[in-house]
Amino acid sequence: MISLILAAGKGTRMKSERSKVVHEVNGVPMVKMVSKLLKNAGIEKSIYILGHRMEEVLNTIGEVEYVEQVEQLGTGHAVLIAKEKIEENKDDVLITYGDTPLLREETINRMKEKFHNENLDCIILSCNMKDPFAYGRIIKKDGNVVDIIEEKEATEEQKKIKEVNTGVYIFKYKSLLEALGKINNNNIKGEYYLTDTIKILSEGGYKVGSYEIDDEDEVLGVNSKAQLAQANKILRDRKNLQLMDNGAILIDPAATYIEEDVEIGEDTVIYPNVIIQGDTKIGKNCIILSNTRIENSIIKDNVKIESSLVEKSTLEEGVTVGPFAHLRPKAHLKENVHVGNFVEIKNAVLEKGVKSGHLTYIGDAEVGENTNIGAGTITCNYDGKNKHKTKIGKESFIGSNTIMVAPVEIGEESFTAAGSVITKNVPDSTLAFGRAKQINKEGWKK
Ligand code: UD1
Ligand code: CA
Repeated sequence: MISLILAAGKGTRMKSERSKVVHEVNGVPMVKMVSKLLKNAGIEKSIYILGHRMEEVLNTIGEVEYVEQVEQLGTGHAVLIAKEKIEENKDDVLITYGDTPLLREETINRMKEKFHNENLDCIILSCNMKDPFAYGRIIKKDGNVVDIIEEKEATEEQKKIKEVNTGVYIFKYKSLLEALGKINNNNIKGEYYLTDTIKILSEGGYKVGSYEIDDEDEVLGVNSKAQLAQANKILRDRKNLQLMDNGAILIDPAATYIEEDVEIGEDTVIYPNVIIQGDTKIGKNCIILSNTRIENSIIKDNVKIESSLVEKSTLEEGVTVGPFAHLRPKAHLKENVHVGNFVEIKNAVLEKGVKSGHLTYIGDAEVGENTNIGAGTITCNYDGKNKHKTKIGKESFIGSNTIMVAPVEIGEESFTAAGSVITKNVPDSTLAFGRAKQINKEGWKK
């Protein structure tokens, strides 16, 4: 089976300068969410129908097979322009929209099953809606679908039908091509309706069925910013449930923002107002306290993070971070490292047991095991043109307010005196003073 993803439309109601389908739902562009779902449901090949802001969509989804629909003349027209691709593939065709990101994998699988088991020419995913307004209504006879009538064309009697077309279909490719050849745009909107193929198939003696669902959320189309928020909420709730099923503890799921691809281990506790994004993996028994944001990071077991920002970093077992720390890209904190209040780390490896509790910047550095970094320490890694490296050996003691002017190396088991500006390498087991001597002017007040 192949799929066609219709995403050429303008999405006027979205009121956006960006393409509608690149807007993110729980951290993933809508259109990617759709293609991911189809892949998970075993559909290897997707062909995109693109038009409005095509370049932007392609930049978002990467290298894909697509057809450009220059003028959007209707859903039937959108499929028609992919005719050659359909002919080439000679496979069943699943059709769906790029702006329907909440569909579930199970639904697609059940639809496929019914399509095959009942040897249908077409199956439509339909939904029983409390308020069917604006949707195409499913017209049935003896259990088969015989027509779909759009809201604008429906009689008062037909408008009462609650079973609606969700816009997801599977067709046998030959039946689809044959019916497509016969549609026209003689209707109120002057568009080529894909839905007209249903009547054509039915009248031609082909078998059309529907797979009915009741969960309206699943087929929510995102047409506006309000619906975008609604879709985000639904996906977040689903993600949170999945994480809790896998053993994570969320104190208040409604106030927890965890994106689609995040993994969290058993008994890790997530407090309210935590944001976890991208490809983040968190181990077991961690505690992530409020006002923390973690992005694309690896966090092993038994880590505690409080009110901090963690970006593209790796935290090994037993690390504690915060409150108010900032781990910038490529911070690598080995086992039991502690990074505390107002400490910023960037592109630096802190070996096991390193402690940096207060008011510090460590950038482009290597810090050896169990070394203690005093309050107010700064690596001067940038000379205005280039970045340079600072190396500190193991078991050393960096006195408070030490300035290390890189490139510079401090040996093992060495010390720097508080307030030192270190511009020269310090050998092992050495105490370095790099500060002016204090002079007391007695009687100065007088
Ligand atoms: C369509 C169905 C309707 C169904 C509803 C479900 C038809 C005629 N009607 O109506 O029965 O209940 O979806 O949401 O199919 N698109 C293109 N190219 C086009 C036209 C549309 O790519 O030329 C894409 C749009 O970007 C959009 C999707 O197809 O994502 C649906 O198009 P839209 O015009 O919104 O269809 P509806 O009128 O909502
Ligand atoms: Ca629509």
